[in-house]
Amino acid sequence: MTAVSPREAAVRVVERVLERGETLDEALEREANQVVERDRPLLQALTYGALRWLPRLEAQVAALTPRSDWRRDPPLRALLVLGAWEAWGLSTPPHAAVSEAVAVARRLGRSRASGMVNAVLRKLHKQTPEVAEDEPTRFALPPWLAEHLRRAWPEDWPAIAEAANAHPPMTLRVDLRQGSRQNAAERLAAHGWTSRPGRVSDAALILDRPCPVGELPGFESGWLSVQDEAAQLAAPLLDAQPGERVLDACAAPGGKTLHLLQQQPECRVVAVDRSARRLRQVAENLRRGGVAADCIAGDAADPESWWDGQPFQRILLDAPCTGTGVLRRHPDIKWLREPSDAQRMATAQRRLLEALWPLLAPGGRLVYATCSIFPEENQQVVSAFVGDHAEAVPGPGPGAGRATGTGYQILPGEAGMDGFFYACLERRGT
Ligand SMILES: C[S@@+](CC[C@H](N)C(=O)[O-])C[C@H]1O[C@@H](n2cnc3c(N)ncnc32)[C@H](O)[C@@H]1O
Repeated sequence: MTAVSPREAAVRVVERVLERGETLDEALEREANQVVERDRPLLQALTYGALRWLPRLEAQVAALTPRSDWRRDPPLRALLVLGAWEAWGLSTPPHAAVSEAVAVARRLGRSRASGMVNAVLRKLHKQTPEVAEDEPTRFALPPWLAEHLRRAWPEDWPAIAEAANAHPPMTLRVDLRQGSRQNAAERLAAHGWTSRPGRVSDAALILDRPCPVGELPGFESGWLSVQDEAAQLAAPLLDAQPGERVLDACAAPGGKTLHLLQQQPECRVVAVDRSARRLRQVAENLRRGGVAADCIAGDAADPESWWDGQPFQRILLDAPCTGTGVLRRHPDIKWLREPSDAQRMATAQRRLLEALWPLLAPGGRLVYATCSIFPEENQQVVSAFVGDHAEAVPGPGPGAGRATGTGYQILPGEAGMDGFFYACLERRGT
C-alpha cells in the first residue's frame, strides 16, 4: 500500500466529519493508518485545528477570493480550511504547505481550482486577513450553539467559548496506592516529562507538554492513567466501601471504572455499556490496573435484561450527553450536534435514571455525571427526578464547581478542567 500524504488524509478526515457525521476519533482511526507514522502528528494537528476554528478559517479564505463555489465542494472546502489553519496556526514553511496543497487539489480531481488554492494559500501565509468579529466567527461556534450557551450562561459564556478553543492539557491520574503523586512526578521527570500538580484532585498531574501514552512510565502498570481532573472527581464522590456492590452503568471506555477499583479494590463492580466494542476497552483498562469487574454488554435503561436482582450500594451513572463540556478535546462536537440534541439527551438521561434508581439499596448512593454544560441535561434532569422521588435526597458535592440547586456544574476551563456536572443522590430508607 502506498502511503497517503497527511494533507490528503486530513481532507478525507474533515470530510468524514462534516459530510458524513463521523466523529473525529472515528474518522482519524479510519484514515491514520494510510499515513506513515511520522506524519500522524501532523494529520492530527491539521484536523483538530481546522475543526476547532472552522468558521474563522472559512472567513479568512472568503476574504481572499471572490469565488464562493468552494463552499459547496466538500473536498475543496476541506483543503482550503486545512491550508488556512496551517498558515495561521502551524509553523509549516509556506513553500512546502502550499505546493503540497496544490498537488492534493490535483489528486482530488480539482485541477481547475489549483490556481485559486495556490493564490489563496500564498496570501494566507503572507498575512492573515481581518475577518468579521461577529461572535460565532470569533468564537468559532455554530450560531445555535453560541446562542444556547449565552442563554444558559449569560455571564460566563464568553469564557466558556474561549476555553472551548484552548489547547487542552494532558492530565494524568496517579494511582496513589502504587506511589505518591510526588514520586510519579519524579519518575516522569527522570524520563524528560515535566509536570505540575492539579489544583483540585489530589491525584492529578498535568504534563507541561503532551506525551505519547505508550511512553508514559507507569502506564502499563496502571500507576498512571490519562484522565482529566474533572473526571477524577467521580470515584471519590462515589466513595465505595469494602465489600459493596457497585454498578458503573455507562462504563466504557472505563476510565472511571479503573479509578473506582484502584481506590477501593475490595468492592465488587458490575460495568455495563451498550457498546460491546467499547466494553472491550473497559476490560483492557482494568487489565492494565490489575483489577477486574463483571463487564456486561447491555442497555442500562433495561436492567431486566442483565440485572441479577441483587441491589447495589453504589451506582455511577456517567450518562451519554452532548459533550458540550469537552469541546476543547473534541472540536468535532460543535459540528455534529444539533439544536434538538439537548432535549433528546435529557429524555434518555431521565429514562436511565428512572431505570437504575430501583437497583440502589436503601442508604445507597447514586452519582449522576455528564460532561455537558447544558442545564437541560444536568440540574433539570436531576431536579425533575428528585421532585418525583421523595426518597431521593441530595448527597455531598464533588469539591469543585458551582451549586446549581441540584448538583454542581464545573465550567470548562475552571481550574484548568473540562466542563462536568455532578449530582449525588442518596436513597432514604432502611
Ligand atoms: C460518557 S461515556 C462513559 C465514560 C466512562 N464512564 C469513562 O469514564 O470512561 C457514556 C457511555 O455510555 C454508553 N451508553 C449510552 N447509552 C447507553 C445505555 N442505554 N446503556 C448502557 N450504556 C450506554 C456509551 O456507549 C458510552 O460508552
